[in-house]
Amino acid sequence: MSDGPILSINDLKISFQSGKEFLPAVDGVSFELKEGEILGVVGESGSGKSVTSLAAMGLIPSPPGKVETGEIIFEGKDLTKFTEKEWREIRGNQISMIFQEPMTSLNPLFTIGNQLIEAIRLHTDLSKSEAKQRSIELLKLVGIPRAEGILKEYPHQLSGGMRQRIMIAMAMACNPRVLIADEPTTALDVTIQAQILALMKNLNQKTNTSIILITHDLGVVAEICQRVVVMYAGQIVEQGDVKKILKDPQHPYTKGLLKSVPDLREKKDRLYSIPGMVPLPGSIKNGCRFAPRCQEVFGPCQVESPELFRSEKDGHEVRCFLHTLKEGNDRHAGVTS
Ligand SMILES: Nc1ncnc2c1ncn2[C@@H]1O[C@H](COP(=O)(O)OP(=O)(O)OP(=O)(O)O)[C@@H](O)[C@H]1O
Ligand code: SF4
Ligand SMILES: [Mg+2]
Repeated sequence: MSDGPILSINDLKISFQSGKEFLPAVDGVSFELKEGEILGVVGESGSGKSVTSLAAMGLIPSPPGKVETGEIIFEGKDLTKFTEKEWREIRGNQISMIFQEPMTSLNPLFTIGNQLIEAIRLHTDLSKSEAKQRSIELLKLVGIPRAEGILKEYPHQLSGGMRQRIMIAMAMACNPRVLIADEPTTALDVTIQAQILALMKNLNQKTNTSIILITHDLGVVAEICQRVVVMYAGQIVEQGDVKKILKDPQHPYTKGLLKSVPDLREKKDRLYSIPGMVPLPGSIKNGCRFAPRCQEVFGPCQVESPELFRSEKDGHEVRCFLHTLKEGNDRHAGVTS
């Protein structure tokens, strides 16, 4: 794994039109995906995870959506400036995505073989029989043993876990450099979830594909990610090394998410969940966006918005006054002096 970024998102801001107003769903998000790593993006429903990743695929629906500012740099080029024609060269080839519910992405009327061969031929100039051969290789790559038989089956004949493997095979068809997996295991039961995560880790090691894994579950992040970006209400609230954050989370929201991860050693009747909900875009005008739910809220929180503080030592980022007030933590991300 080299240290350089393969994808850099810089100060990305995306709004959706609601009546006459544009409301920010993603509000100044910056992070890097390093070559060969698995980066987790975690947060509750409505925090802006999917909107961020759709932007990296050039798939923000416009209207109502709009990329207001920011850059998405891939191989030295800013993807936000790309035309639809340029996007078609990148999407599915260099940057691929798998979605939460595989049934909605597979066409029930066509066999798996039809769809897989079609997807391969769309992006390559392989003949039909070469594409079939490649399909079989891909199905083997994602751990489907009786590949030839599966090619003749229809999506409804397969289990959820099997369908998700096929979606991963499709996304891997052109050896993408970046794979974005948006809640790839949410619809699956726990055992199958573990298998799919193991498969993604295996693909990452075998093919060196860099992966962005989107999830609402820090437990999933703990399984396979090296670094994690924690998002809340369209902003990053904490970012850094997974081991460090799991051991010593700094942001009250991260602490809450961590408390809601099931601990196998401790039998609890009910799992903790942070009271309240993620605010709608644009609904909090003043102060910290997490303040209405924060158990550590104090003086400045409802008046000023905390900025993202970045540690110069290890690049760890936290957006919270408590953290900023700690001795020495007096500088914000992006400010060098
Ligand atoms: N097509 C759309 N039209 C209008 N607003 C949208 C649209 N898509 C997303 N949004 C807005 O962006 C916000 C963030 O949505 P996003 O889908 O990125 O959340 P998420 O973090 O992926 O949540 P989930 O865990 O439920 O998938 C939503 O709360 C919504 O207000
Ligand atoms: S800034 Fe205040 S309200 Fe926001 S997370 Fe920190 S302590 Fe909580
Ligand atoms: Mg989503």
